[in-house]
Amino acid sequence: MIRGIPTLTGMEILRSVVILIHIVGFAILFGAWVVEAVGRRIRVTPLMNYAIVISLVTGLILSAPWGSDHEPNYIKIGIKLVVLLVIGALLGIGSARQKRTGSLSPAIFWPIGILALLNAGLAVIWH
Ligand code: HEM
Repeated sequence: MIRGIPTLTGMEILRSVVILIHIVGFAILFGAWVVEAVGRRIRVTPLMNYAIVISLVTGLILSAPWGSDHEPNYIKIGIKLVVLLVIGALLGIGSARQKRTGSLSPAIFWPIGILALLNAGLAVIWH
């Protein structure tokens, strides 16, 4: 199986790179949110939208079965997907309201960061 080893290693490296980009998506989403929270600016920013797209696309790629040693936990993935869709809805509603009224309700702002952290917690703690 010598010939099989490089292929497997290549897949492993590729998957690790996708996980890295997935974590970068989280870092940008949560980081962008923390910057606004600490600056006492209750608003959503375009960076949060880009970040959630990165998280979604890479998350879906990681959800594919990448070989027998990575049996995806579909319950966890389903919950993460629902949480991400809620974050996406809050971002969408938030930016629309912000554009219309010039301000954003804290009830929309706070759950964005908390749910992002919840998803990262799910990923790291629930294996
Ligand atoms: C805001 C949204 C999200 C955040 C913050 C997030 C966070 C993370 C983090 C930090 C990891 C690395 C943890 C580890 O490897 O132990 C991870 C892995 C992963 N995520 Fe996400 N994620 C998000 C959305 C999603 C979505 C929507 C999906 C699928 C539809 C998904 C699927 C996965 C998968 C399959 C892994 C690899 C887990 C493994 O191989 O053990 N994620 N996520």
